[in-house]
Amino acid sequence: MKLVGISGAMAGDKTSIAVNDVLVAAQQIDLSIKTELIDLREYEIDFAIGAPLADYNNDTINVVKKMLNADFLVFGTPIYQASISGALKNLFDLLPENAFKYKVTGIVATGWSNKHFLVPEYQLKPILSYFKGLIPTGNVYIHNDAFNDNSEEIIDRSISDRIQKLANEMIYLQKGIQNR
Ligand SMILES: Cc1cc2nc3c(=O)[nH]c(=O)nc-3n(C[C@H](O)[C@H](O)[C@H](O)COP(=O)(O)O)c2cc1C
Repeated sequence: MKLVGISGAMAGDKTSIAVNDVLVAAQQIDLSIKTELIDLREYEIDFAIGAPLADYNNDTINVVKKMLNADFLVFGTPIYQASISGALKNLFDLLPENAFKYKVTGIVATGWSNKHFLVPEYQLKPILSYFKGLIPTGNVYIHNDAFNDNSEEIIDRSISDRIQKLANEMIYLQKGIQNR
């Protein structure tokens, strides 16, 4: 099984680190799982204009194909203006309607306010559902204080536990889908 992580942040490292932590946790649970981190800072993704995929640049085509070829995915977004990042929304706008059918789609989000912990629930979950993704019950909201200021690693043990549980649930659900 291949698990692809998408980090929808174009600025800092926190979202990418959190998504990568889910990938690492998944591999520790099941060594046979292949993982790939797609950090959107490393790609030049075109703006979605409703054109066929072949009309976009190579980065856009490659990233969309990696998402469509993944068995399951975990999405990370920084909270921007009480919503998901524009970069991540633009990526979704490039996808076909059944993009996540039979795929578990996990969620992690980073933010500087704990008041926005429900933003992924109300804004990202409906998008993943629209694409027919199966969303785990446990998502992970990470306040900036959970990160070490210098190394940016996650130092809050309760967050690392939640990441571990998310990876566990995602694998459990995805295996259920594969064996259906
Ligand atoms: C333009 C902008 C808007 C933001 N809006 C919010 C917000 O509404 N709520 C919140 O909790 N954090 C907000 N933040 C903080 C980021 O979500 C937070 O710093 C996050 O950890 C950044 O992730 P990154 O290091 O991956 O870029 C905002 C940051 C920026 C730059």
